[in-house]
Amino acid sequence: MLLDLVTKMPERYKEMQYMELVKRAAAVKERFGDRLFIPGHHYQKDEVIQFADVTGDSLQLAQMASSRQQAEYIVFCGVHFMAETADILAADHQKVVLPDLRAGCSMADMADINQTERGWEKLQQLFGDTILPVTYVNSTAAIKAFVGKKGGATVTSSNAKKMVQWAFEKKERLFFLPDQHLGRNTAYDLGIPLASMAVWDPIHEKLEFEGDLENVKVILWKGHCSVHMNFRADHIRKLRSEEPDVAVIVHPECTREVVALADDAGSTKYIIDTIKQAEKGSKWAIGTEMNLVNRLKDSFPELEIRSLNPTMCPCLTMNRIDLPHLTWILESLEKNEIYNQISVDKETSRYAKMALDKMLSL
Ligand code: 13P
Ligand code: SF4
Repeated sequence: MLLDLVTKMPERYKEMQYMELVKRAAAVKERFGDRLFIPGHHYQKDEVIQFADVTGDSLQLAQMASSRQQAEYIVFCGVHFMAETADILAADHQKVVLPDLRAGCSMADMADINQTERGWEKLQQLFGDTILPVTYVNSTAAIKAFVGKKGGATVTSSNAKKMVQWAFEKKERLFFLPDQHLGRNTAYDLGIPLASMAVWDPIHEKLEFEGDLENVKVILWKGHCSVHMNFRADHIRKLRSEEPDVAVIVHPECTREVVALADDAGSTKYIIDTIKQAEKGSKWAIGTEMNLVNRLKDSFPELEIRSLNPTMCPCLTMNRIDLPHLTWILESLEKNEIYNQISVDKETSRYAKMALDKMLSL
C-alpha cells in the first residue's frame, strides 16, 4: 500500500525515550531479516548508524545498493540524491524509502534541470560539440539523466580523478556539475591550470572567464557544499601558528585554497582510511562533516582528533534522519504502510543509469 508522500511522522515518536526507540527499531530489523537493507552514509548520526547494515561513502553506497537483491525494502539513511541513486540501481521489486523527505542536499539543489539545459545550449554556441558533461553523484536524478543522454558519466569524490581522465579521452572540454570545488580540485590535481578553468553561473547565465575561450578546458558549475565552505584557509593558518605538529586533512568539496594549504585531501573513505593508518599519538584536524569527525574521534582515542573548524560543521539535512524517523518508517513498513518512497520515473532512470553505469564499470 503506497501512502500519501507528505505524511508526517506521528508526534508520539518524538516523545519516545531513546532506549525505547532503539528496542523497537532493533525488533523490526530482526523480524525483517534479509528482506530489509539499511545503508548509512558516513555523515549520519550514531543513533542511526547503529542500525546500518553497511556504512560507506557515496561510491560504496551506490555500489552496494544494487547488490542486495533479496531486500524488498531499502531504507536509505543519507540524503535524497543518494536514495534516488539507490532506486535507479535497484531491481523493480525493491522499494527505496528515505526516513525523512526533508533530507535533501543544498549542493544538489544548486543545479536545476531547466537551468542546466539552458546553460548547455549557451555553451554549445560558445564551444560547439567539444564538451562532455560529468556530474558529481551529489545531483538530482534529472541531472544524471541529462548527463547520461549526452554520453557523460557520474563521478564521486573517490573516483573523480579517474573519471575526469576518462572524460578527457572522449572530448576536448569538460562541463563539471554541480560542485565547482570538487571539479576544480580534481582538474588541478590532473595538471590542468586554473587559468584554463571557467565557471558557469546558472543564475546570471554567464560564463566567468578572462582570456581566450580557446584555452578553456574545464567549465565548472557554480555550485558548492555549504558544509565544506565552512572550512577556511584562516583556520589552517591559525592552527599551524599555534600547533605546527597537527596534520590537516580535508574533503575535496572544500575550496582550492583550503585543499592547497592542507596536508592531504580525499573522500570520506580516504579520510577514514588515512586515520585508520595514522601513527599512535599523532594529531589531526579534519575538514569534513561533524558526525564523521566525532565518530573518528571516539573510535581512535589513541589519536588527537578535532574538527578543522572549532565550531564544528554539521550537515543539517543529513541530520534530519534521526532515530524517531527511522523507527517510524520501519514500524510502518511492517504494517505494509510505505511512507517517503523515492521512486524515479522510468525514462529518467534509464538515462541516469547510463551515466552511473559508466562510472561503476570503470
Ligand atoms: P563522499 O561520501 O563521496 O566523500 O561525499 C561526501 C558528501 O558530501 C556526501 O554528501
Ligand atoms: Fe550535500 Fe554538503 Fe550535506 Fe554532502 S555535506 S549532503 S554535499 S550539503
